[in-house]
Amino acid sequence: MPDKKEQLQNLNKKWIEECECELKKTATQAVPGDGNANAEIVFIGEAPGRSEDLQGRPFVGAAGKFLEEMLSLINLKREEIYITNIVKYRPPNNRDPLPEEKSACREWLLEELKIISPKLIIFLGRHAMNNFFPALSISQAHGKLLIKPFKGMSTKYFFPLYHPAAALYDGSMREVLKEDFKKIPKVLKKISVYGVPYNNDARTLNK
Ligand code: URA
Repeated sequence: MPDKKEQLQNLNKKWIEECECELKKTATQAVPGDGNANAEIVFIGEAPGRSEDLQGRPFVGAAGKFLEEMLSLINLKREEIYITNIVKYRPPNNRDPLPEEKSACREWLLEELKIISPKLIIFLGRHAMNNFFPALSISQAHGKLLIKPFKGMSTKYFFPLYHPAAALYDGSMREVLKEDFKKIPKVLKKISVYGVPYNNDARTLNK
Protein backbone atom coordinates (compact mmCIF):
# COMPACT_ATOMS: atom_id res chain seq x y z
CA MET A 1 0.00 0.00 0.00
CA PRO A 2 1.59 3.34 -1.04
CA ASP A 3 2.02 5.90 1.74
CA LYS A 4 -0.35 8.87 2.01
CA LYS A 5 1.97 11.21 0.11
CA GLU A 6 2.11 8.84 -2.83
CA GLN A 7 -1.64 8.24 -2.69
CA LEU A 8 -2.21 12.00 -2.90
CA GLN A 9 0.19 12.31 -5.83
CA ASN A 10 -1.70 9.55 -7.67
CA LEU A 11 -5.04 11.14 -6.82
CA ASN A 12 -4.00 14.57 -8.11
CA LYS A 13 -2.58 13.08 -11.30
CA LYS A 14 -5.86 11.24 -11.93
CA TRP A 15 -8.06 14.26 -11.22
CA ILE A 16 -5.94 16.71 -13.21
CA GLU A 17 -6.71 14.48 -16.20
CA GLU A 18 -10.32 13.69 -15.35
CA CYS A 19 -11.81 16.75 -13.63
CA GLU A 20 -14.59 18.19 -15.78
CA CYS A 21 -14.64 21.61 -14.14
CA GLU A 22 -15.37 24.37 -16.68
CA LEU A 23 -12.78 26.56 -14.92
CA LYS A 24 -10.07 24.39 -16.48
CA LYS A 25 -10.64 26.33 -19.70
CA THR A 26 -9.65 29.71 -18.25
CA ALA A 27 -7.18 28.74 -15.50
CA THR A 28 -3.43 28.48 -16.09
CA GLN A 29 -3.19 25.16 -14.25
CA ALA A 30 -4.73 23.05 -11.49
CA VAL A 31 -3.97 23.98 -7.89
CA PRO A 32 -4.15 20.74 -5.88
CA GLY A 33 -3.84 20.55 -2.10
CA ASP A 34 -0.41 20.95 -0.57
CA GLY A 35 1.38 20.17 2.68
CA ASN A 36 1.86 17.33 5.11
CA ALA A 37 -0.03 14.21 3.99
CA ASN A 38 0.02 12.97 7.61
CA ALA A 39 -1.30 16.24 9.07
CA GLU A 40 -3.69 16.28 12.03
CA ILE A 41 -5.34 19.38 10.59
CA VAL A 42 -6.57 20.10 7.08
CA PHE A 43 -7.49 23.68 6.15
CA ILE A 44 -9.99 24.12 3.31
CA GLY A 45 -10.23 27.42 1.44
CA GLU A 46 -12.41 28.57 -1.41
CA ALA A 47 -10.55 28.69 -4.71
CA PRO A 48 -7.12 29.65 -6.04
CA GLY A 49 -6.43 33.32 -6.75
CA ARG A 50 -3.98 34.86 -9.19
CA SER A 51 -0.73 33.94 -7.41
CA GLU A 52 -1.96 30.39 -6.78
CA ASP A 53 -2.99 30.02 -10.43
CA LEU A 54 0.47 31.08 -11.57
CA GLN A 55 2.41 28.96 -9.06
CA GLY A 56 0.12 25.90 -8.91
CA ARG A 57 0.11 25.96 -5.07
CA PRO A 58 -2.70 27.01 -2.72
CA PHE A 59 -2.41 30.03 -0.42
CA VAL A 60 0.83 31.53 -1.72
CA GLY A 61 -0.47 35.12 -2.09
CA ALA A 62 -1.42 37.74 0.51
CA ALA A 63 -4.06 35.52 2.17
CA GLY A 64 -1.46 32.74 2.43
CA LYS A 65 1.07 35.02 4.13
CA PHE A 66 -1.58 36.09 6.60
CA LEU A 67 -2.55 32.46 7.20
CA GLU A 68 1.09 31.65 8.01
CA GLU A 69 1.08 34.51 10.53
CA MET A 70 -2.03 33.05 12.15
CA LEU A 71 -0.43 29.59 12.25
CA SER A 72 2.61 31.02 14.02
CA LEU A 73 0.30 32.26 16.82
CA ILE A 74 -0.25 28.60 17.71
CA ASN A 75 3.31 27.49 16.92
CA LEU A 76 2.39 25.71 13.74
CA LYS A 77 4.27 25.87 10.48
CA ARG A 78 2.73 25.52 7.06
CA GLU A 79 4.74 22.32 6.52
CA GLU A 80 2.92 20.70 9.45
CA ILE A 81 -0.59 21.16 8.11
CA TYR A 82 -2.32 20.30 4.84
CA ILE A 83 -4.12 22.97 2.89
CA THR A 84 -6.51 22.70 -0.02
CA ASN A 85 -9.49 24.37 -1.69
CA ILE A 86 -13.02 23.28 -2.58
CA VAL A 87 -12.35 24.31 -6.19
CA LYS A 88 -8.98 23.47 -7.73
CA TYR A 89 -8.98 26.01 -10.59
CA ARG A 90 -9.00 29.81 -10.41
CA PRO A 91 -12.39 31.39 -11.22
CA PRO A 92 -11.99 34.28 -13.72
CA ASN A 93 -11.29 37.58 -11.92
CA ASN A 94 -11.56 35.74 -8.60
CA ARG A 95 -15.35 35.62 -8.74
CA ASP A 96 -17.17 33.25 -6.37
CA PRO A 97 -17.15 29.66 -7.63
CA LEU A 98 -20.49 28.56 -9.13
CA PRO A 99 -22.42 25.59 -7.67
CA GLU A 100 -21.57 23.41 -10.70
CA GLU A 101 -17.86 24.26 -10.33
CA LYS A 102 -17.98 23.27 -6.67
CA SER A 103 -19.69 19.98 -7.56
CA ALA A 104 -17.19 19.20 -10.33
CA CYS A 105 -14.32 19.34 -7.79
CA ARG A 106 -16.21 17.84 -4.83
CA GLU A 107 -15.18 14.21 -5.29
CA TRP A 108 -11.52 15.27 -5.65
CA LEU A 109 -11.74 17.07 -2.30
CA LEU A 110 -13.51 14.17 -0.57
CA GLU A 111 -10.92 11.69 -1.79
CA GLU A 112 -8.12 13.96 -0.52
CA LEU A 113 -9.78 14.07 2.89
CA LYS A 114 -10.28 10.31 2.96
CA ILE A 115 -6.57 9.72 2.31
CA ILE A 116 -5.35 12.20 4.92
CA SER A 117 -8.06 11.39 7.51
CA PRO A 118 -7.15 14.36 9.70
CA LYS A 119 -8.36 14.79 13.27
CA LEU A 120 -9.83 18.17 12.45
CA ILE A 121 -10.98 19.97 9.31
CA ILE A 122 -10.86 23.76 9.43
CA PHE A 123 -13.00 25.73 6.98
CA LEU A 124 -11.59 29.05 5.82
CA GLY A 125 -14.67 31.08 5.01
CA ARG A 126 -18.30 30.45 4.20
CA HIS A 127 -17.80 28.74 0.82
CA ALA A 128 -15.76 25.95 2.36
CA MET A 129 -18.13 25.60 5.32
CA ASN A 130 -21.30 25.65 3.21
CA ASN A 131 -19.88 22.89 1.03
CA PHE A 132 -20.38 20.60 4.05
CA PHE A 133 -22.91 22.51 6.17
CA PRO A 134 -25.14 24.36 3.66
CA ALA A 135 -27.51 25.85 6.23
CA LEU A 136 -24.94 27.49 8.52
CA SER A 137 -23.92 31.12 8.53
CA ILE A 138 -20.22 31.84 9.03
CA SER A 139 -20.93 34.82 11.30
CA GLN A 140 -22.67 32.46 13.73
CA ALA A 141 -20.60 29.30 13.30
CA HIS A 142 -17.04 30.70 13.29
CA GLY A 143 -14.90 29.55 16.22
CA LYS A 144 -17.29 26.75 17.19
CA LEU A 145 -16.57 23.06 16.90
CA LEU A 146 -19.05 21.16 14.74
CA ILE A 147 -19.45 17.42 14.94
CA LYS A 148 -21.01 15.48 12.13
CA PRO A 149 -20.17 12.14 10.54
CA PHE A 150 -20.19 12.19 6.71
CA LYS A 151 -20.62 9.00 4.70
CA GLY A 152 -17.28 7.41 3.84
CA MET A 153 -15.24 9.99 5.77
CA SER A 154 -13.50 9.22 9.05
CA THR A 155 -13.17 12.88 10.11
CA LYS A 156 -16.19 14.21 11.95
CA TYR A 157 -14.80 17.30 13.69
CA PHE A 158 -15.00 20.62 11.85
CA PHE A 159 -14.04 24.15 12.89
CA PRO A 160 -15.16 27.10 10.74
CA LEU A 161 -13.16 30.33 10.62
CA TYR A 162 -13.46 33.59 8.73
CA HIS A 163 -11.48 33.58 5.49
CA PRO A 164 -8.03 35.21 5.94
CA ALA A 165 -8.53 37.26 2.75
CA ALA A 166 -11.69 38.81 4.24
CA ALA A 167 -10.01 39.43 7.60
CA LEU A 168 -6.94 40.93 5.97
CA TYR A 169 -8.68 44.23 5.24
CA ASP A 170 -11.10 44.32 8.19
CA GLY A 171 -9.56 45.08 11.56
CA SER A 172 -12.34 43.72 13.75
CA MET A 173 -12.68 40.53 11.72
CA ARG A 174 -8.92 40.09 11.98
CA GLU A 175 -9.11 40.18 15.78
CA VAL A 176 -11.94 37.62 15.77
CA LEU A 177 -9.94 35.36 13.45
CA LYS A 178 -6.91 35.59 15.76
CA GLU A 179 -8.99 34.69 18.82
CA ASP A 180 -10.61 31.77 16.96
CA PHE A 181 -7.21 30.56 15.82
CA LYS A 182 -5.95 30.52 19.39
CA LYS A 183 -8.74 28.05 20.25
CA ILE A 184 -7.35 25.42 17.84
CA PRO A 185 -4.87 23.71 20.24
CA LYS A 186 -7.59 23.37 22.89
CA VAL A 187 -10.05 21.99 20.34
CA LEU A 188 -7.49 19.41 19.17
CA LYS A 189 -6.82 18.36 22.75
CA LYS A 190 -10.51 17.90 23.43
CA ILE A 191 -10.94 15.82 20.30
CA SER A 192 -8.10 13.56 21.47
CA VAL A 193 -9.73 13.15 24.88
CA TYR A 194 -13.28 12.56 23.60
CA GLY A 195 -11.85 10.73 20.60
CA VAL A 196 -13.61 7.61 19.46
CA PRO A 197 -16.40 6.89 20.21
CA TYR A 198 -16.89 10.63 19.90
CA ASN A 199 -19.02 12.63 22.26
CA ASN A 200 -21.91 13.81 20.18
CA ASP A 201 -22.58 16.80 22.38
CA ALA A 202 -20.87 19.74 20.68
CA ARG A 203 -21.79 21.97 23.63
CA THR A 204 -19.42 20.00 25.87
CA LEU A 205 -16.60 20.43 23.40
CA ASN A 206 -17.24 24.12 22.93
CA LYS A 207 -16.95 24.93 26.66
N1 URA B 1 -7.90 32.02 -1.17
C1 URA B 1 -8.35 30.74 -1.16
O1 URA B 1 -9.46 30.47 -0.74
N2 URA B 1 -7.55 29.80 -1.62
C2 URA B 1 -6.33 30.05 -2.05
O2 URA B 1 -5.65 29.10 -2.43
C3 URA B 1 -5.88 31.38 -2.04
C4 URA B 1 -6.68 32.35 -1.60
